[in-house]
Amino acid sequence: MQTIHLHSSTIFFGEPEELVFDGSVLIITEKNVASLYLDLISQKIKAPQVFSLVLQGGEENKNFQTLEQILHFAFACKLDRKSTMIALGGGIISDLVGLASGLYMRGIDFYNIPTTLLAQVDASVGGKCGVNSPFGKNLIGLFHHPSQVLISPLFLKSLPPREFNAGMAEVIKMAVCFSPELFEKLFDVSYVQNHLLEIIFQSISIKANIVSQDERESHLRSALNYGHTFGHAIEKEQNFQNFLHGEAVSIGMVMANTLASKIAGFQESSQVLSLLKLHNLPTSYKIQNPDVFFQSLFLDKKTQNQQIKFILPLAIGSFDFFYPPVEEIKKILNEFAK
Ligand code: GLY
Repeated sequence: MQTIHLHSSTIFFGEPEELVFDGSVLIITEKNVASLYLDLISQKIKAPQVFSLVLQGGEENKNFQTLEQILHFAFACKLDRKSTMIALGGGIISDLVGLASGLYMRGIDFYNIPTTLLAQVDASVGGKCGVNSPFGKNLIGLFHHPSQVLISPLFLKSLPPREFNAGMAEVIKMAVCFSPELFEKLFDVSYVQNHLLEIIFQSISIKANIVSQDERESHLRSALNYGHTFGHAIEKEQNFQNFLHGEAVSIGMVMANTLASKIAGFQESSQVLSLLKLHNLPTSYKIQNPDVFFQSLFLDKKTQNQQIKFILPLAIGSFDFFYPPVEEIKKILNEFAK
């Protein structure tokens, strides 16, 4: 089985195997995943006690209320500091469980078993976890690394195409900023389907390389946020409904590329657009209120001293960080408001 080590996490690639624990285990998942995989994973766990909590899925439920629900359930199960929480699901579940396990009794272990492509290629590794607030996306959270991440393509067999495509947006993000070779490969859809584990492994390898240099996102790690500054503002404008995270990131990359072609000399916007369309991702969006949208960009975690930081591609495989003048940002927003 292939593995990658990152910080205190070991990331395993392959079929799920038996998992042995000294303390009790709480599996946290959501309705759809529970009906498909909760029994399968429960059977693989050898622990003194195994509990499970099935949540309502959806980005709109990644909030304080659900966090409290997890913590209260954990107290009711009498989890202690030797217990482990297991996140079985997509990025929403891993973000919630990472945060809950990081807060419970000042922090207990957690495992990630990501069941969506988006979580397998990005969200399940690197230790970022959090919840949304009415002020914006992922604004409340922690860095808390899972001790193990178990990545198996088995789970992707049941993934609806829309969810699969949303995961491809994060793969495309990695390729545009870091890997012309991966970018080329992604134009071959049958290659992607037949070499999925390799694509996931490459995405995680790119991410692990970046996170190992800048775990707390003092600078370099924010490159993994290409497309996310605009994408998060779209999610907020939509009240965390209507778009999957990867879909909002896809549109966010198109917006970022428009800015990059104006201020960073980026000439490959149309190739990126073609690749996003090839993977059936949304690439257009009508901003409802450019002024409110503009204000929400400031509550991005990359903003410093009221300057909004953008990661913009210079060419496929290279990028830089920009703090564009306000007028340039507003021009882009007005273009997308028409
Ligand atoms: N998803 C971006 C990061 O983990 O930094």
